[in-house]
Amino acid sequence: MNPVWLIAKKRDGEVLADAEIGAFISGYVAGSIPDYQMSALAMAIYLQGMSVAETASLTQHMLASGATFQWPRGGPPKVDKHSTGGIGDKVSILLAPMLACCGLRVPMISGRGLGATGGTLDKLESIPGYRTDLSLAEMREVVEAVGCAISGATADIVPADRKLYALRDVTATVPSIPLITASILSKKLAEGLDALVLDVKFGSGAFMKSTEDACALAQSLVHTGTQMGVETTALLTDMNQPLGRMVGNAVEVNESVATLQGSGPPDLMEVTLALGVELLVSTGYAKTRESGRIQLQKTVDTGAAYEKLAEMVAAQGGDLAAPRAVAPGTEILATQRGYVASVDAEQLGQAVIALRGGRQQLGDALDYSTGIEMLVQLGEKVDVGQPLARIFAPITSREEATRRVAAAFSYCDEQPNAGPLVVSL
Ligand code: URA
Repeated sequence: MNPVWLIAKKRDGEVLADAEIGAFISGYVAGSIPDYQMSALAMAIYLQGMSVAETASLTQHMLASGATFQWPRGGPPKVDKHSTGGIGDKVSILLAPMLACCGLRVPMISGRGLGATGGTLDKLESIPGYRTDLSLAEMREVVEAVGCAISGATADIVPADRKLYALRDVTATVPSIPLITASILSKKLAEGLDALVLDVKFGSGAFMKSTEDACALAQSLVHTGTQMGVETTALLTDMNQPLGRMVGNAVEVNESVATLQGSGPPDLMEVTLALGVELLVSTGYAKTRESGRIQLQKTVDTGAAYEKLAEMVAAQGGDLAAPRAVAPGTEILATQRGYVASVDAEQLGQAVIALRGGRQQLGDALDYSTGIEMLVQLGEKVDVGQPLARIFAPITSREEATRRVAAAFSYCDEQPNAGPLVVSL
């Protein structure tokens, strides 16, 4: 196989064969195909796209570049949820224990903050002692014993994606639907799943700003996942303001705990239930959406999901009951009267980064105690001087975040119509 021929073939809009994609990916991982040829192929894919069959082939070969979970035959279905990333998105922390209480196994490999969006691993690391570096064997043990585990990707999972993602980042080839699809699915399918639900976010705090782009990505993920033999569904969910009220690390864990104890914000519960229902229906663990919803709600109402989260945290070395420090809060006040017309969720994510709740550079240490609490929502009427948000931060480091949070709100005179929170494909 001459890599130049394959690059030219894709450049000219032709379809690559499975064996050609396989040879290219294995050559790249082995080092016989250099970064510059992989960059050229990534750009050709960015410009020409890929069919579902080609995308599935790329996903399969990336997946095969590393280790995968090996599960014993039989037993309850293995399921997971993947979100394309948002601000205040703590759904994984709720959903993993809720699904485990319904009898499913949830081996959830999560990530750290990316751009302005927070990462589940960073949030969970605000729990004293919690380990996010479980080996595959340790993670499997926790899933078998508890029903769910949330940990980071090990070095041996999908090395092709680790190499290719870093290259895409510096060659302007990140926003390519086939490349994003293969990147996300190869990592998720390494978990050896039976069913997967994708939470594809749209709006000011999302990777995909428009519903059209989110829909195109969701369709590509569903078609490719299905072609690869995994029950795959997707929902589009609104990220035009943070999900729930809290954005940060310890404050998001606190909000997750409160939600599992029955006093969470309705939008967070709604998205969590909608995604959970997809998995219960996909696996046949619920006959209808309504019964799936009741099943999931019951795990919260009985306290079982909270207990399950505490059990998972303990199995991963943490103590959910240990205090999590939260920095002192100050309120940001409205400077205008009117309705909240828009909330720039990405600005809020950047404000958390300015508070060291997210990273500016690779390897930055985080301050888990910082964050933001939303005190109003889109479409709400506000008066001059009314608190819009609360910033949790040491007094000396609030300046940039205060500016960003204040700038994230815009106002209008007439009450705007709120769009739907969850959209089916
Ligand atoms: N998340 C991923 O894991 N990969 C992408 O390509 C984009 C978002």
